[in-house]
Amino acid sequence: MRQQCLFLCLCVFVGFVQNAKILSIFPMHSHSHFTLGFNLLQEMAKRGHQITFISPYPQKKPLKNFRDISIANIKPALDELKKELFRLEDGSPIDNFRYMSKMGRAFTELGLASEEVQNLLKSKNETFDVILIEHFYNEAQFALGHHFNAPVVLLSPMPSSVLNNHLFANPSPSSYVHNLFAPFIQYMTLTERLKNFYYDTMMAYYQYYEELPFQKKIMEKFFPNAPPFEEILYNSSLLLMNSHPSFSDPVPHMANIIEIGGYHVLPPKKLPDDLHRYLNESKNGVVYFSMGSILKSNVLTKEKRKCFIEAFSKLKEDVLWKFDIDIEDLPPNVKILKWAPQNEILAHPNVKAFVTHGGLLSTIETIYHGKPTIGIPVFSDQKFNIAASEKFGYAIKVPFDGITEKKLTKALNEILNNPSYKENAKRRSAIMHDQQVKPIDKAIYWIEYVIRHKGAPHLHCAALDLSWYQRSMLDVLAIIAGAIFAVIFIFTFAVKTMCGKKRKTNTKLKKQ
Ligand SMILES: *[C@@H]1O[C@H](CO)[C@@H](O)[C@H](O)[C@H]1NC(C)=O
Repeated sequence: MRQQCLFLCLCVFVGFVQNAKILSIFPMHSHSHFTLGFNLLQEMAKRGHQITFISPYPQKKPLKNFRDISIANIKPALDELKKELFRLEDGSPIDNFRYMSKMGRAFTELGLASEEVQNLLKSKNETFDVILIEHFYNEAQFALGHHFNAPVVLLSPMPSSVLNNHLFANPSPSSYVHNLFAPFIQYMTLTERLKNFYYDTMMAYYQYYEELPFQKKIMEKFFPNAPPFEEILYNSSLLLMNSHPSFSDPVPHMANIIEIGGYHVLPPKKLPDDLHRYLNESKNGVVYFSMGSILKSNVLTKEKRKCFIEAFSKLKEDVLWKFDIDIEDLPPNVKILKWAPQNEILAHPNVKAFVTHGGLLSTIETIYHGKPTIGIPVFSDQKFNIAASEKFGYAIKVPFDGITEKKLTKALNEILNNPSYKENAKRRSAIMHDQQVKPIDKAIYWIEYVIRHKGAPHLHCAALDLSWYQRSMLDVLAIIAGAIFAVIFIFTFAVKTMCGKKRKTNTKLKKQ
């Protein structure tokens, strides 16, 4: 009873938020992006908030406190664009950036044009307390905040990058913050720093002269009454960032950038009976192999598959392979699963290693469960994720292009028989789990915080309101440089005139 009283008092005191109305958009046609939104919002719905969720994957069965707004209409166009992804394996980080921004323009516009979103925008009696937007090449959608007159919280699916730093004037010097699209790690050599600076500069260039002007046009088309794009762009209250020192570099973060990496990993559910039995009964342990949801049989060609099958057949361990088609004549220790509960499988103690494409969510889940990995990166941030995993000592990289049975066998033997990989994976896992509050509670706390403090304008950093030369102290440096020049000038002038006078008096004296 006393506790309840205390709780009530506390609620009144801090202005407890319950039953908040939350509008959220996760605009990208990809299951990992959807998961990042859904796992958080589902938890918020359970805690009593009213969720309206715009995404390409509406629920089949309605959930309590949860309303779906479908943008499944973006799928056909995006499927077309995704085909280009695989040509990018050798593309430069800048090609990657420009490709993603092209994709972004497509899904930003198509998402806003969808009938269900248009109905929501036109309806007169919709109100929301906060708008949660996944920030991923979709800046035009920030105008939803202005449209519904509610503060905007952004969620970045990846760590600090060119994409989000400028929105909060977050410092990210090229000297030690590696470009997210480049396979560098924190300590860069001189050549790497040169490249890093080049990537940062070029991406900023493409962002300001290519990406953002497009987004501006899209915003003006769908929100004709909105204030200027620049005002919308730099007016978000908070950025929730999918990063954490257990898997990303320790880098600067403004007071309104909150790291919540690991929040999407739910407590493992019960495994299906047959899978549970398989994992329990495997004598020498299991290797789990999955290349994520994008890399399907059309990319993993027959020849490449043969490398994997031959390498697996030489193992004493069993192999669980998540793949979209059946393969005939598999060795007896290999089993294909068309659908696999990855989180639950990785949580099983008999799983010895994970062969992965190194997507960020898979990387986080690996660390969460402390499993050593073999990384086969294909594009985007995967190369960096795996470079970092190698640095942390729990992974071995095998490039997708030019993969051979020999390379795979070598890597598998090393990962399974050298205990240091497992120990390092456990060490990273301990870092991820050692937090004051669970990342999901932290994420929800901060969203409620923004509601309680009406957009939390006190967290807005003055750096955003300075011009570029003020922020980089160029005006101050110019004054100091000017002052130094003035002193030098006056000094030399004085010396010169004094010497001149002396000389004159000297010659006068001589004449006399
Ligand atoms: C900026 O955000 C605040 C709330 O966080 C809101 O009151 C204000 O209208 C917004 N300004 C613009 C231009 O959207």
